[in-house]
Amino acid sequence: MANNLLAGKRGIIFGALNEQSIAWKVAQRCHEEGATFVLSNAPLAMRMGEINKLAEQCNAPIIPADATVVEDLEKVFSGAVEQLGGKIDFVLHSIGMSPNIRKGKHYGELNYDWFQKTLDISALSFHKMLHVAEKQDALNEWGSVVALSYIAAQRAFLDYTDMSQAKAVLESIARSYGQRLGTQKKVRVNTISQSPTKTTAGTGISGFDAFYEYADRLSPLGNAPAEACADYCVSLFSDLTRYVTMQNLMHDGGFSTTGISEAMVEAITHATKEA
Ligand code: NAI
Repeated sequence: MANNLLAGKRGIIFGALNEQSIAWKVAQRCHEEGATFVLSNAPLAMRMGEINKLAEQCNAPIIPADATVVEDLEKVFSGAVEQLGGKIDFVLHSIGMSPNIRKGKHYGELNYDWFQKTLDISALSFHKMLHVAEKQDALNEWGSVVALSYIAAQRAFLDYTDMSQAKAVLESIARSYGQRLGTQKKVRVNTISQSPTKTTAGTGISGFDAFYEYADRLSPLGNAPAEACADYCVSLFSDLTRYVTMQNLMHDGGFSTTGISEAMVEAITHATKEA
């Protein structure tokens, strides 16, 4: 249901790879709510071509960028201001990648060059984006910036390996830049800590199906789907949340504050009887 919550707002959405991507759903919802925006992704991801479908649907220009490269980000921000016809009201950082996860390295055998790549792609890119936005004075007052995180920033999930550290850094950057940009420009910066979601990045993690199921059974509301995450992003980009900043916002169906659920008790009782 569209309510014109983002009418007249201009944005940049990073990280829509395919229809499963959280950023893809966010773009569709932002479009429904009346926003105009630029889509950006790594040149390699662009070559897969799927983003063109989304760009057509949303009437959105595409500006490629490797989010670890400051010069690329400069082009995205200046290009967006130029092509959209004014300063930016919202930014979504929906970027994550760990070469260690891709190569199946467990926590005890991480490759440190790849670890740095994980941090650069999944966390420092957020700092670089905010740095460029500030230097170019590209954001409007009362703008809103959101990055997507995961609860492995606070709790140990060993299969999430170095992405856990990347998410902890990401959330910390949101607080520091939230303070800085809030004071300077009344811009808010938050992270959303999302339930496990069946996307390319999500399903690349070893044991994903198990922790998807585990989270689903533990959460009173079940796992939050990508579409609901998109709704939450829209609310954070809208004027209805102007004083929410420097927060890591749980969007997880209640997972993070649940001890145990009946569904888990039943599953464990059943498994114990079977054994
Ligand atoms: P996805 O695979 O659709 O999106 C990840 C995006 O990162 C892709 O579009 C990819 O091209 C982009 N990317 C990778 N390296 C890049 C680079 N150097 N420069 C620019 N873009 C680059 O997967 P998903 O799940 O939609 O991921 C979006 C965000 O949500 C990530 O930050 C992820 O960690 C986070 N998240 C995902 C969860 C899940 O279970 N899927 C749970 C909680 C958070």
